[in-house]
Amino acid sequence: MSDVTTAEFNEEGKYLRKVRSFVLREGRLTKGQAAAMEQQWPLMGLDYSPEPIDLAQIFGREADTVLEIGFGMGASLVEMAKASPELNFIGIEVHKPGVGACLSDAAKAGVTNLRVFHHDAIEVLENSIVAGSLARVQLFFPDPWHKKRHHKRRIVQTEFAQQIRRTLKIGGVFHLATDWENYSEYMLEVLGAAEGYQNQSTTGDVVQRPEHRPLTKFEARGHRLGHGVWDIMFERID
Ligand SMILES: C[S@@+](CC[C@H](N)C(=O)[O-])C[C@H]1O[C@@H](n2cnc3c(N)ncnc32)[C@H](O)[C@@H]1O
Repeated sequence: MSDVTTAEFNEEGKYLRKVRSFVLREGRLTKGQAAAMEQQWPLMGLDYSPEPIDLAQIFGREADTVLEIGFGMGASLVEMAKASPELNFIGIEVHKPGVGACLSDAAKAGVTNLRVFHHDAIEVLENSIVAGSLARVQLFFPDPWHKKRHHKRRIVQTEFAQQIRRTLKIGGVFHLATDWENYSEYMLEVLGAAEGYQNQSTTGDVVQRPEHRPLTKFEARGHRLGHGVWDIMFERID
Protein backbone atom coordinates (compact mmCIF):
# COMPACT_ATOMS: atom_id res chain seq x y z
CA MET A 1 0.00 0.00 0.00
CA SER A 2 1.39 3.36 -0.95
CA ASP A 3 1.79 5.97 1.77
CA VAL A 4 -0.40 8.53 0.01
CA THR A 5 -3.66 6.72 0.67
CA THR A 6 -5.09 4.98 3.69
CA ALA A 7 -6.23 1.39 3.21
CA GLU A 8 -9.92 0.88 3.83
CA PHE A 9 -11.58 -2.44 4.57
CA ASN A 10 -15.17 -3.56 4.99
CA GLU A 11 -16.50 -5.49 7.98
CA GLU A 12 -15.22 -8.81 6.60
CA GLY A 13 -11.76 -7.32 6.21
CA LYS A 14 -12.05 -7.13 2.42
CA TYR A 15 -10.05 -4.30 0.82
CA LEU A 16 -12.34 -1.62 -0.62
CA ARG A 17 -11.32 -0.20 -3.98
CA LYS A 18 -12.10 3.49 -4.19
CA VAL A 19 -12.51 5.63 -7.28
CA ARG A 20 -9.65 8.09 -7.05
CA SER A 21 -8.93 11.30 -8.95
CA PHE A 22 -5.35 10.23 -9.72
CA VAL A 23 -3.25 7.31 -10.88
CA LEU A 24 0.10 7.21 -9.15
CA ARG A 25 3.04 7.17 -11.54
CA GLU A 26 5.87 7.14 -9.06
CA GLY A 27 8.59 8.58 -11.25
CA ARG A 28 12.06 8.84 -9.77
CA LEU A 29 13.04 11.97 -7.95
CA THR A 30 15.90 14.03 -9.33
CA LYS A 31 18.86 14.53 -6.99
CA GLY A 32 17.66 18.04 -6.24
CA GLN A 33 14.13 16.88 -5.43
CA ALA A 34 15.43 14.08 -3.18
CA ALA A 35 17.75 16.48 -1.36
CA ALA A 36 14.88 18.94 -0.88
CA MET A 37 12.70 16.15 0.55
CA GLU A 38 15.41 15.29 3.03
CA GLN A 39 16.32 18.83 4.04
CA GLN A 40 13.02 20.69 3.76
CA TRP A 41 10.43 18.07 4.76
CA PRO A 42 11.23 18.52 8.49
CA LEU A 43 10.57 22.27 8.04
CA MET A 44 7.69 22.36 5.54
CA GLY A 45 6.24 18.85 5.41
CA LEU A 46 3.03 17.90 7.20
CA ASP A 47 2.86 14.17 7.95
CA TYR A 48 -0.66 12.95 7.34
CA SER A 49 -2.62 11.42 10.18
CA PRO A 50 -6.41 11.39 10.42
CA GLU A 51 -6.36 14.15 13.06
CA PRO A 52 -7.40 17.81 12.77
CA ILE A 53 -4.39 20.12 12.38
CA ASP A 54 -3.86 23.32 14.38
CA LEU A 55 -3.07 26.08 11.87
CA ALA A 56 -1.98 28.65 14.47
CA GLN A 57 0.52 26.17 15.87
CA ILE A 58 1.79 25.02 12.46
CA PHE A 59 2.41 28.55 11.18
CA GLY A 60 3.19 30.12 14.55
CA ARG A 61 0.65 32.89 13.93
CA GLU A 62 -3.00 33.67 13.20
CA ALA A 63 -3.47 34.48 9.51
CA ASP A 64 -5.83 33.69 6.67
CA THR A 65 -5.00 30.32 5.16
CA VAL A 66 -5.15 29.26 1.51
CA LEU A 67 -5.21 25.57 0.60
CA GLU A 68 -4.17 24.32 -2.85
CA ILE A 69 -5.16 20.87 -4.06
CA GLY A 70 -2.93 19.08 -6.60
CA PHE A 71 -0.19 21.71 -6.94
CA GLY A 72 1.80 19.65 -9.50
CA MET A 73 5.42 20.86 -9.40
CA GLY A 74 4.37 23.74 -7.13
CA ALA A 75 5.67 26.62 -9.27
CA SER A 76 2.55 28.77 -9.02
CA LEU A 77 1.99 27.86 -5.35
CA VAL A 78 5.51 29.00 -4.41
CA GLU A 79 5.05 32.19 -6.45
CA MET A 80 1.80 32.94 -4.62
CA ALA A 81 3.30 32.22 -1.20
CA LYS A 82 6.19 34.55 -2.00
CA ALA A 83 3.86 37.27 -3.29
CA SER A 84 1.54 37.12 -0.24
CA PRO A 85 3.65 36.76 2.91
CA GLU A 86 0.64 37.86 4.99
CA LEU A 87 -1.21 34.62 4.11
CA ASN A 88 -0.54 31.03 5.14
CA PHE A 89 -0.42 28.47 2.32
CA ILE A 90 -0.94 24.71 2.47
CA GLY A 91 -0.37 22.56 -0.62
CA ILE A 92 -1.48 18.96 -1.14
CA GLU A 93 -0.04 16.72 -3.85
CA VAL A 94 0.17 12.93 -4.30
CA HIS A 95 2.99 12.95 -6.86
CA LYS A 96 6.25 12.75 -4.91
CA PRO A 97 8.59 14.34 -7.50
CA GLY A 98 6.18 17.30 -7.51
CA VAL A 99 6.39 17.60 -3.73
CA GLY A 100 10.20 17.50 -3.97
CA ALA A 101 10.22 20.15 -6.71
CA CYS A 102 7.91 22.39 -4.68
CA LEU A 103 10.05 22.12 -1.54
CA SER A 104 13.19 22.83 -3.55
CA ASP A 105 11.65 25.97 -5.15
CA ALA A 106 10.22 27.13 -1.83
CA ALA A 107 13.61 26.87 -0.14
CA LYS A 108 15.27 28.78 -3.00
CA ALA A 109 12.58 31.47 -2.82
CA GLY A 110 13.00 31.69 0.96
CA VAL A 111 9.27 31.36 1.68
CA THR A 112 8.32 30.59 5.29
CA ASN A 113 4.52 30.67 4.94
CA LEU A 114 4.10 27.35 3.08
CA ARG A 115 3.48 23.80 4.34
CA VAL A 116 2.77 20.70 2.25
CA PHE A 117 1.06 17.36 2.53
CA HIS A 118 2.13 14.40 0.38
CA HIS A 119 -1.21 12.63 0.49
CA ASP A 120 -4.64 12.22 -1.12
CA ALA A 121 -6.38 15.60 -0.77
CA ILE A 122 -9.73 13.92 -0.20
CA GLU A 123 -8.51 12.31 3.00
CA VAL A 124 -6.74 15.47 4.15
CA LEU A 125 -9.90 17.52 3.60
CA GLU A 126 -12.06 15.00 5.39
CA ASN A 127 -9.87 14.33 8.40
CA SER A 128 -7.22 16.99 8.86
CA ILE A 129 -8.78 20.36 8.06
CA VAL A 130 -10.89 21.99 10.76
CA ALA A 131 -14.36 23.15 9.67
CA GLY A 132 -14.54 26.83 8.70
CA SER A 133 -10.78 27.33 8.94
CA LEU A 134 -9.84 28.33 5.36
CA ALA A 135 -10.06 31.64 3.52
CA ARG A 136 -9.61 30.10 0.08
CA VAL A 137 -9.31 26.70 -1.57
CA GLN A 138 -7.58 26.49 -4.97
CA LEU A 139 -7.89 23.77 -7.57
CA PHE A 140 -5.89 24.67 -10.67
CA PHE A 141 -5.93 22.51 -13.80
CA PRO A 142 -7.15 19.29 -12.19
CA ASP A 143 -6.81 16.15 -14.31
CA PRO A 144 -9.67 16.53 -16.83
CA TRP A 145 -10.35 12.80 -17.33
CA HIS A 146 -11.50 13.43 -20.90
CA LYS A 147 -13.40 10.24 -21.59
CA LYS A 148 -17.00 10.15 -20.48
CA ARG A 149 -16.57 6.79 -18.76
CA HIS A 150 -13.77 8.35 -16.69
CA HIS A 151 -15.80 11.38 -15.57
CA LYS A 152 -16.43 9.64 -12.25
CA ARG A 153 -12.71 10.11 -11.55
CA ARG A 154 -12.96 13.89 -11.85
CA ILE A 155 -12.19 15.36 -8.45
CA VAL A 156 -15.02 17.90 -8.77
CA GLN A 157 -18.20 16.13 -7.68
CA THR A 158 -21.20 17.09 -5.56
CA GLU A 159 -19.75 15.45 -2.46
CA PHE A 160 -16.36 17.09 -3.06
CA ALA A 161 -18.01 20.52 -3.31
CA GLN A 162 -19.52 19.96 0.13
CA GLN A 163 -16.22 18.71 1.58
CA ILE A 164 -14.61 21.95 0.42
CA ARG A 165 -17.52 24.02 1.74
CA ARG A 166 -17.08 22.50 5.21
CA THR A 167 -13.47 23.66 5.37
CA LEU A 168 -14.15 27.23 4.14
CA LYS A 169 -15.13 30.14 6.38
CA ILE A 170 -18.35 31.89 5.50
CA GLY A 171 -17.20 34.36 2.84
CA GLY A 172 -14.30 32.07 1.88
CA VAL A 173 -13.82 31.26 -1.79
CA PHE A 174 -13.38 28.08 -3.81
CA HIS A 175 -11.31 29.04 -6.88
CA LEU A 176 -10.99 26.62 -9.80
CA ALA A 177 -9.25 26.93 -13.15
CA THR A 178 -9.20 24.61 -16.13
CA ASP A 179 -8.10 24.69 -19.76
CA TRP A 180 -10.67 22.09 -20.75
CA GLU A 181 -13.98 23.71 -21.68
CA ASN A 182 -16.05 20.60 -21.06
CA TYR A 183 -14.62 20.37 -17.53
CA SER A 184 -15.39 24.08 -16.89
CA GLU A 185 -19.01 23.41 -17.83
CA TYR A 186 -19.06 20.39 -15.54
CA MET A 187 -17.58 22.47 -12.68
CA LEU A 188 -20.22 25.16 -13.18
CA GLU A 189 -22.96 22.55 -13.21
CA VAL A 190 -21.78 20.87 -9.99
CA LEU A 191 -21.06 24.10 -8.08
CA GLY A 192 -24.11 25.91 -9.44
CA ALA A 193 -26.29 23.21 -7.94
CA ALA A 194 -24.31 22.92 -4.69
CA GLU A 195 -25.96 24.16 -1.53
CA GLY A 196 -24.34 27.02 0.40
CA TYR A 197 -22.38 28.63 -2.42
CA GLN A 198 -22.78 31.74 -4.56
CA ASN A 199 -21.09 32.22 -7.90
CA GLN A 200 -18.85 35.33 -7.83
CA SER A 201 -19.26 35.80 -11.57
CA THR A 202 -21.56 38.70 -12.44
CA THR A 203 -22.51 36.85 -15.62
CA GLY A 204 -23.33 33.66 -13.75
CA ASP A 205 -20.50 31.68 -15.30
CA VAL A 206 -16.75 32.31 -15.28
CA VAL A 207 -14.60 35.17 -13.93
CA GLN A 208 -11.47 36.91 -15.25
CA ARG A 209 -8.25 35.40 -13.90
CA PRO A 210 -7.68 37.22 -10.60
CA GLU A 211 -4.24 38.76 -10.20
CA HIS A 212 -3.32 36.42 -7.39
CA ARG A 213 -3.32 33.40 -9.74
CA PRO A 214 -0.01 33.51 -11.61
CA LEU A 215 -0.03 32.78 -15.32
CA THR A 216 1.79 29.45 -15.79
CA LYS A 217 4.28 28.89 -18.63
CA PHE A 218 2.00 26.25 -20.03
CA GLU A 219 -0.95 28.62 -19.93
CA ALA A 220 0.93 31.48 -21.60
CA ARG A 221 1.81 29.10 -24.43
CA GLY A 222 -1.83 28.03 -24.66
CA HIS A 223 -2.88 31.69 -24.94
CA ARG A 224 -0.53 32.16 -27.90
CA LEU A 225 -2.08 29.10 -29.55
CA GLY A 226 -5.55 30.51 -28.93
CA HIS A 227 -6.52 28.01 -26.23
CA GLY A 228 -8.88 29.11 -23.51
CA VAL A 229 -8.60 28.99 -19.72
CA TRP A 230 -11.63 29.27 -17.49
CA ASP A 231 -11.51 30.62 -13.91
CA ILE A 232 -14.44 29.84 -11.64
CA MET A 233 -14.95 31.33 -8.16
CA PHE A 234 -17.69 30.38 -5.75
CA GLU A 235 -18.11 31.95 -2.31
CA ARG A 236 -19.34 30.06 0.72
CA ILE A 237 -22.43 31.97 1.84
CA ASP A 238 -23.89 29.49 4.32
C1 LIG B 1 -3.02 18.14 -14.32
S1 LIG B 1 -2.07 18.31 -12.86
C2 LIG B 1 -2.05 20.06 -12.55
C3 LIG B 1 -0.98 20.48 -11.61
C4 LIG B 1 -0.91 21.98 -11.22
N1 LIG B 1 -2.07 22.40 -10.47
C5 LIG B 1 -0.71 22.85 -12.43
O1 LIG B 1 -1.56 23.72 -12.68
O2 LIG B 1 0.30 22.69 -13.13
C6 LIG B 1 -3.15 17.68 -11.57
C7 LIG B 1 -2.38 17.34 -10.29
O3 LIG B 1 -3.30 16.96 -9.27
C8 LIG B 1 -2.74 15.90 -8.52
N2 LIG B 1 -3.87 15.20 -7.87
C9 LIG B 1 -4.92 14.58 -8.47
N3 LIG B 1 -5.77 14.08 -7.57
C10 LIG B 1 -5.24 14.40 -6.33
C11 LIG B 1 -5.68 14.15 -5.01
N4 LIG B 1 -6.79 13.49 -4.75
N5 LIG B 1 -4.91 14.60 -4.01
C12 LIG B 1 -3.75 15.29 -4.25
N6 LIG B 1 -3.29 15.56 -5.50
C13 LIG B 1 -4.04 15.12 -6.53
C14 LIG B 1 -1.99 15.08 -9.56
O4 LIG B 1 -0.99 14.29 -8.98
C15 LIG B 1 -1.42 16.17 -10.48
O5 LIG B 1 -0.15 16.59 -10.06
